[in-house]
Amino acid sequence: MATMWNGISFPFTEQSYMTLIIILAATVLWLLWSVSSHFRSRNQSDLRLPPGSFGFPFIGQTVEYVLALRTAEGIRQWVQTKIDKHGPLFKWRFTGYPVVMMDQPEGTKFIFQNEGTSNHIFWPPHISTLVGPDCVMGLSGERHKRARRLLARFFDHSAMSRYLHAVNRNAIRHFNDHWQGKEELVVLDMTNKFTFSTICNLLLTVGEGPMMDKFLEECDHWAKSASTMPINLPGFQYHRGLKARNTILEMLDGLLQQRRKEIAEDCVSEASKVDILHSLLTMPEEEGNLLSDSFIKDNLLFLFISGFDTSSGTLAMTIYFIAKYPHVYKEVLQEHKLILEEKRRSGKDENVLTMEDISTMKYTWRVVKETLRLHPVVIGSFRKTAIDLEYKGYNIPKGWLLNWNTQDSHYNPKYFKDPLTFDPSRWERAPIPFTYLPFGGGPHICLGNEFAQMEILVFIHHLVRNYSWSLVNPNYNGPIIRDPLARTPDRVLVKVKQMTAF
Ligand code: HEM
Repeated sequence: MATMWNGISFPFTEQSYMTLIIILAATVLWLLWSVSSHFRSRNQSDLRLPPGSFGFPFIGQTVEYVLALRTAEGIRQWVQTKIDKHGPLFKWRFTGYPVVMMDQPEGTKFIFQNEGTSNHIFWPPHISTLVGPDCVMGLSGERHKRARRLLARFFDHSAMSRYLHAVNRNAIRHFNDHWQGKEELVVLDMTNKFTFSTICNLLLTVGEGPMMDKFLEECDHWAKSASTMPINLPGFQYHRGLKARNTILEMLDGLLQQRRKEIAEDCVSEASKVDILHSLLTMPEEEGNLLSDSFIKDNLLFLFISGFDTSSGTLAMTIYFIAKYPHVYKEVLQEHKLILEEKRRSGKDENVLTMEDISTMKYTWRVVKETLRLHPVVIGSFRKTAIDLEYKGYNIPKGWLLNWNTQDSHYNPKYFKDPLTFDPSRWERAPIPFTYLPFGGGPHICLGNEFAQMEILVFIHHLVRNYSWSLVNPNYNGPIIRDPLARTPDRVLVKVKQMTAF
């Protein structure tokens, strides 16, 4: 999901087509703009709008924003330059919509606390088509509350202890199958395999094999298409993404029919009885009816996407930072050694992790939090105003977008001392509310954050326990690429050495 949350990032592989289309579109829109601007300026002249500029007609700052999104430094500087010029609250224009980048933390709090009343979730139409009409993330108001209630039971704290055992087994198997005997590895490819197989298992009881590979391939196309130009013509990534959506839905349809048959014949395997597909097929809605196929498929598709590359990218960058800073590695190692020593002392199985073990991995979680501060998977997203608003003496008209964004506060020395320094110890204290937003906030706050925490910590536990690793390019100091997940150009290429498990 990371892919789409970041805003829209065009990879420019289709650059020549896009340039032509942008120029033509801009010319037409310029004419429309010129005719209508006279009337608009008259209406808005009475309002006190936030400072800032709308940039080019219609497309506004879309292209410069999208280009800035291609590196971590680029987007940080884009936001900073605007703040230096206009202050922390400014207007700009994105894909045709007037946007207000809200100041932090007050503006972000304002968005999240008023969500569902004066503002609503907003996704551009082409993203809404990709996620489908019943996907929890695209819904608002009562429909969103209902969908969230239905899905939340799969991700609450008690569900975590049910999943832990399977996630732990999957991690052990992953290291045996993919790390053993290797000298060099691309960490991002490994974490993709691990998080995708974890989510496939959790949702559908589908293990590694041709079906999982096909799901992965299609999800990858889907995710890439969410961050390209929405041109539905053969040869364009967006077109491929829509095809991927259809293929995934067809595959899910096959699984749904098969499972329904097994339920009718009472021959569902014990493993499948506890997956999310099974619950979705058997649990009644609040009104007593079974859930519609469209609801089940749209949300399974979304959980695939949101539950895989977000955690995978975070894991890969965490492993990168642990390798980069030996003092961090030392502390992480020590924490996991203590967990194992305690298990040995009390005669417990060393290969089994409990929720209590997870909660003792405090330092490791701080390392992950620091990674997410510097490289949040989601840069920010948009909400749409449902009424004319007044905020800090400014008018924000109905229909404008409000943009919450991680870049100002995550890198602001007012909230995080020496913000460019990787320092997990800063998490010994809680941050000021609404300054740290890797999982968003408000009614759409990440549903899978506890699950992500658990799977990331389980993976790191088995990694530090069995392997030492070092960066193949330790002196790389160039930009961290975002495509759109943050990664080093070599996708975190490491030398690995298997250790005798401690
Ligand atoms: C490190 C990992 C993750 C990060 C950084 C992350 C981040 C986010 C963010 C920022 C949002 C809110 C977007 C917005 O407000 O516009 C979100 C929503 C969501 N996430 Fe995550 N996520 C992660 C992992 C997961 C996992 C593992 C799952 C499920 C398996 C998941 C499921 C969801 C769902 C269902 C929503 C939509 C909730 C709603 O609309 O009510 N996420 N995530």
